[in-house]
This record gives sequence, structure tokens and C-alpha cells, in this order.
Amino acid sequence: MSWYNEVEYIRKQARLNNEFFANSLPMIASENVLSPLCREMLITDFHGRYAEGTPGKRYYEGCEIFDRVEEKAMELAKKLFNCSYADVRPTSGTTANIAVLKALIKPGETATVLDLANGAHISFGKWGGAGVRGINLVSYPFNDEEMNIDVDGAVKLIKKIKPKLCLNGRSVFLFPSPIKELAKAAHEVGAYLVYDAAHVLGLIGGKQFQDPLREGADVVNGSTHKTLPGPQGGMILSDHKGDTDDDKSFLRKIGFGVFPGVTSSYHLHHVAAKAIAFAEHLEFGEAYAKQTIKNAQALAQSLHERGFKVFGEKLGFTRSHQILLAIGPGKGKQASKKLADAGVITNMNTIPGDEDPLNPSGLRLGTPELTRIGMKESEMAEVAEFYKRIILDHDDTKKVKRDIKDFRKDYQTLCYCFKENFRGYDYFELV
Ligand SMILES: Cc1ncc(COP(=O)(O)O)c(C=O)c1O
Repeated sequence: MSWYNEVEYIRKQARLNNEFFANSLPMIASENVLSPLCREMLITDFHGRYAEGTPGKRYYEGCEIFDRVEEKAMELAKKLFNCSYADVRPTSGTTANIAVLKALIKPGETATVLDLANGAHISFGKWGGAGVRGINLVSYPFNDEEMNIDVDGAVKLIKKIKPKLCLNGRSVFLFPSPIKELAKAAHEVGAYLVYDAAHVLGLIGGKQFQDPLREGADVVNGSTHKTLPGPQGGMILSDHKGDTDDDKSFLRKIGFGVFPGVTSSYHLHHVAAKAIAFAEHLEFGEAYAKQTIKNAQALAQSLHERGFKVFGEKLGFTRSHQILLAIGPGKGKQASKKLADAGVITNMNTIPGDEDPLNPSGLRLGTPELTRIGMKESEMAEVAEFYKRIILDHDDTKKVKRDIKDFRKDYQTLCYCFKENFRGYDYFELV
């Protein structure tokens, strides 16, 4: 028997997966599809090379050409986010978060955070990165109706407990956080404010969400593959200039947190693809972010009109790429499974008041991928109708699945990138 059969088995699964997503409605808020020119970088020789350190200061030879790429990626990132410091090395949003925790807080010290049930991410939770760093976590009060940090309560909390770090990390991120107020309180007690923009980085780069660095955040972390539709990876931004000894030391600590803190080599092919994603976002990001948000708002409204309980109603449901639905106590999993069987890919999610993350009561939806394949507000009404048929009308799953496949036929190429006519889901076309 040849082991090549196993190779063919994996290749077949990859083709099936491409086909599956090309025929579905992919609506996981943290996902996106990669542009052809970003994708090209992933199969270059940058893959597999080592470049520990920073451009010009390497532990390995052979990095001169890659140094130009990393320099360009940093330059484009600073331009895109209008800031003076960018580190493009973190291999994920989680890695970026842990690097910053390593840099700015010591075990046993206190940070303020959001609760998981209110939409925080595990990397700032006790079972994730913050727990690994041994940090004492204290939660902000939360306003369920506004789906946001209770700003007065949070300011009081910060002033009372004087944390070392004030963290803002949100996986359910419907409305901008009150960063001005939190940063002011943090700075008064000598703390730094860290804004985890994993989800909303592309909306910020597209100038359609809040601008945390202008509002007082000291550091902005993020994933480079969500609303910013680049390769899987992370990054760290700051507008600290390093113009005093203290400030220099602050930036040095962050760099040291990334390497040697949480990376060795850092996936050079992804850094090259990040540089291309930044250039594409400078070119198309504003239009893309605007349409992504418009689509989320249109979808939320259409779902509401069809009888779904959509969070944030008083504030227009959402100002981001996300929508949060209440499905019924402990019924999130059942609903996400039913949707997936019919070809709508979402995830179950905790909602305010949930205590069991394994049996949550909500669904989180996102519009980044549907927007990228060219859908606009009118298509969102059709998408909402599919949700109604699946969840509320209990239509025949197989029939809905056929209808979704048919609906998807007209949306098979990527928009908001160079080489727009590429069939974004067909990886094998490129090889
Ligand atoms: C707020 C937040 N931070 C960090 C992350 C982790 O990002 P990554 O998957 O890039 O590690 C996520 C993931 O969705 C997130 O929602």
C-alpha cells in the first residue's frame, strides 16, 4: 500500500471543504476569505524560512529580502491605522494579546476585563492567556440593553481598584466601547488601556468604527483575518512615539513580548500576505467596511421584522459586522446545527445572563464574508428569509439547502481586492 492514498484523501477533503463553503452562506463573524494576491504569498519560499528578531538585526542569514517585506508591511500598517508603531510578527490575535500581557503586567497583578458571557474573548479570560500569565481579573459592569460596558460603573471600578491594565477585548462587539472615558480613568491611576480589535480591525482601518488610538488606547491588538481580510495572523499597533526614556521602554517591552516572548520564527509567508492585505485595505477598505456594516444593519432589521429577537434594538441593532440573536434558553447549539444542515454557517454564542458556555442561548452572525462575495442590502432580506424558513417555519432542510446553493451561484468571486474575477473558493485553480 502506498501512503500516497493518504495524501489523496486529504486533498479530497480540501476540495470538499472548498465546495461546501462555496455552496453555503458562511456567516461566522470572525471568518473571511483570502484574496488571490494574498494567497499567492502563502505558497512562496517565504514559507518555512526563519527570521527571528527585527529587520537588520537577525539571528539567521538569508533575511535581506524578507527584511524589505517586513519593513513594507510595517510601513503600510502604520499608514492604514495612522500610527507610529506597528508589529506585524504575532502569529494570531491570541499571540498578540499574550505578548502584550507579558510586556505590560506581571503575575498576581490586576487587570479589568469584560465577562465571557458579555462577549469577551478567552485570551483575556482566566482559562486563556490572562490565566496563563497568572493575572487577577476583575470584570466591568455591563449594560445588557445597550450591549456595552457600563461606562460610569467601569470608571468607578478602575478608580477604586487601580488595575495595572484596563483591557477591552470583545468577541461580541456590536457597538463601539467607551474608550475615551476608560482611557482617561486608566491613565489617572497609572494604567495602560489595551484595545483588542481582533474583530473590528478592518472596520477601524476602513474608518467606519471608532478610532481607539485617537480615543486614548495605548495599544491596539488584532487579528489580520477577520474584518481585515488578510492571512491568519495578528498584529500590534500603538501611537506611542518612543520620544522619552519611559516611552521607549514601553515600546521595547512590547517588542520583547512578541520576540522572544511568544514567537520564534513568525510565519514569513503570512507577513508577506499581511503586507498585501494592508495595501488592498488601503485601496478598498473604506468601501468594504461601509458595506459590511450596512449589510449587518439590513440583516438585523430583516430578521427582527421576521420575528427574531435581535440584541441592541434601541440602538439600531449593530454598528459593526455582527448581529446577536437570542434563540431560547440553552438552544443556541441546536439552532446553529439546524442552520448548518441547511447550509448557513454560524456559531452558537453566550448572551447576557448565560452561565454555561457549552449550552448558550444565542447565535452570533457576521456579514464580512457575504459582503466580500458581493452581497448588498437587498440580498440580506433574502438571507433573513432563509433563517426564517429554517428556524421559525421548520421548512424541509434539504429543500432549503438546494435553494441556498442556487442563491449562491451568482456570488462566487471576491470583491474589494485586486484581481476581482478570481473564484475565491477554488484554491486548486491557483496551483
Ligand atoms: C476579541 C478577540 N480577541 C482575540 C481573538 C483571537 O484571535 P485569533 O483567532 O487570531 O487568535 C478573538 C477570536 O475571535 C477575539 O474575538
